[in-house]
Amino acid sequence: MTAPAKIKQEVSSLREEIEYHNRLYHSLDAPRIPDADYDALLLRLQRLEEIYDLATPDSPSNRVGSAPLTQFVQVDHEIAMLSLDKVSDTKELRDFEKRIKKRLGVKKHVTYSCEPKVDGVAVSLLYQDGILLRAATRGDGKTGEDITHNVKTIRCIPLKLKGLKHSTRLEVRGEIFISKSGFERLNERGKREGKKVFVNPRNTAAGAVRQLDPKATAKIPLEMFCYNVGVVDGLKLPTSLAELFAELSAYGLPVNPDRKTVKGIDGCLTYCSSLLSKRNDLIYEIDGAVIKVDDLYAQQALGQNSKSPRWAVAYKFPAEESSSRVLEVEFQVGRTGTITPVARLDPVFVGGVTVSNTTLHNMDEIKRLGLRIGDSVIVRRAGDVIPKIVYVLNSEENNNHNEIIPPSHCPACDSPVEKDGDVLLRCSAGITCPAQKKESLKHFASRAAMDIVGLGSKLIEKLVDVALLDSVADIYELKIEKLAVLDRLGPKSSQKLIQAIEKSKTTTLPRFIFALGIREVGEATALALVKYFGDIESIANASTEELEKVEDIGPIVAQHVSAFFSNKHNLSLIQKIRNSGVQWPHFDTKSTRKPLNGKTFVLSGTLETMPRNEAKAILLSLGAKVISSVSKKTDILVAGPGAGSKLSIAKELGINIYDEREFLSFLDDLR
Ligand code: IVH
Repeated sequence: MTAPAKIKQEVSSLREEIEYHNRLYHSLDAPRIPDADYDALLLRLQRLEEIYDLATPDSPSNRVGSAPLTQFVQVDHEIAMLSLDKVSDTKELRDFEKRIKKRLGVKKHVTYSCEPKVDGVAVSLLYQDGILLRAATRGDGKTGEDITHNVKTIRCIPLKLKGLKHSTRLEVRGEIFISKSGFERLNERGKREGKKVFVNPRNTAAGAVRQLDPKATAKIPLEMFCYNVGVVDGLKLPTSLAELFAELSAYGLPVNPDRKTVKGIDGCLTYCSSLLSKRNDLIYEIDGAVIKVDDLYAQQALGQNSKSPRWAVAYKFPAEESSSRVLEVEFQVGRTGTITPVARLDPVFVGGVTVSNTTLHNMDEIKRLGLRIGDSVIVRRAGDVIPKIVYVLNSEENNNHNEIIPPSHCPACDSPVEKDGDVLLRCSAGITCPAQKKESLKHFASRAAMDIVGLGSKLIEKLVDVALLDSVADIYELKIEKLAVLDRLGPKSSQKLIQAIEKSKTTTLPRFIFALGIREVGEATALALVKYFGDIESIANASTEELEKVEDIGPIVAQHVSAFFSNKHNLSLIQKIRNSGVQWPHFDTKSTRKPLNGKTFVLSGTLETMPRNEAKAILLSLGAKVISSVSKKTDILVAGPGAGSKLSIAKELGINIYDEREFLSFLDDLR
């Protein structure tokens, strides 16, 4: 049927409106119409095109998805789709640069294009005369599969390029992926509809591009970043990658905004460090950075090996997820009596460290995961965040796995367990519970508290078990002769321990307040209390109203502090400790000194004695700047275990590095 002018007009404005929403869809903050309204526009367009025979290959109606295929057609890549060589440390990256300079015969800095290595699926898009003709998977690099029907449903991929002339062929390559939020939305929708939950964005994207039915693909929020070109006919390319990206973007193709052009390998290292620290905040998942020689002539001169180009390399970041098995779930009693379920795992290397335990927080979390003992699980450790179980892999077929039952009695002292709020469990015994006692002692002796070297967890447990320690004050009553009852502790070690206990007697007031283990009083709060009140007597005598005047102290913490110092037992304990010679220098509250003014710190890895936000709060209160990525401007990197690439980059850049102990004594010297 020939279309009346009115219909042609409607079709054209529908196309414009849909393309407008397609563009909005990809800028995060832009308002969007609800998916249902968008779908309605598409369906109307599709109907009109069908009735009046107005369909074109570049019409957005293609986004709905054509009829399902019965099988995939193979596609031979005219130019092979290569993969990348990998490097995993700074030395290997420097070797890469050496090879390049040698081959190119240059001495000065090479310019590089640094890009996130998006974790998705590689695809090739072939545009003929500016119209999307064919999309294909990478396959084995030589032969892939035709996935045009699916790719046409991806909103950010233009069906027609802007401003491209006739008689041109342009093959664009890039990565199709699902954003983190898109993936979450997908799974939330799936849960609501009782469908199976997808394991991770990458696998979901890979599955989605290889659907025979494009209508199924259209339901997955796929996106793409273009990062390379293949076949180019009838048009002249620019001479650098930076310009090429600008050109691709001008054609309407999506390119990654987080890429950067830098000078020399040091620039690449700084980029990698910054990318790594931004990793959690990126809207898509990455598994590393890609470093490419920016000059396209130089790329040509460098050529390729059998499978990979010589002008690019992938700097791999540690995998953030890995699978393991829950061997057991134990209930641990903390210093203040909270009982926390902890999963014992088959040890697994994830996020740069080996993980064999992970907290499950509370019973609600166990319920949410549907976790049972024996389950295979996905463990995630992203950045320096504590590892967690994010997904149970085999929940359907685990009928013979054991359910996790919360204890009715404290696993350490058998006292009844009380509920604290809706989800927390607490041992009702208080400090007479040996587990609480042991945890308080461990906390008191720990590095960030009294720092009694040699008085570690195992020894404390022994000493409590043989009744040599009952309260923290008993630590200062320990004598070499008393220690002789412990068979594992020789005279030399005993001597050393007694010396360490002696040494710990000279401390600082913030450390001592922190060591007391008052609920919710971490290091930063202890420091804030001391800064405000100056001495322990004033803290102990302060009313809750006065306590609340201290920065960052709210009613709950004020209540905990006040309750602690109202307890006669605690006061006599403090007296006893002070009588045994524990002392600290006077703290000058008048001083507004900011000794770390102008200094920039980066914290990386796990700090055993304090959460990193505590360390950050302390540094900030001393005037320092705390940033997340290492660069030449960083003064000090504080590196705990698992510091990984930031540590190696800091070493490369010759930045001062403190381990945790050095950091703590550095702080002591300042306050
Ligand atoms: S360039 C010849 N750039 O990593 C160079 N690849 O093994 C081709 N990838 O198959 C790849 N982000 O799927 C390049 N910015 C990026 C990338 C990237 C992700 C993937 C791609 C490729 C694999 C390399």
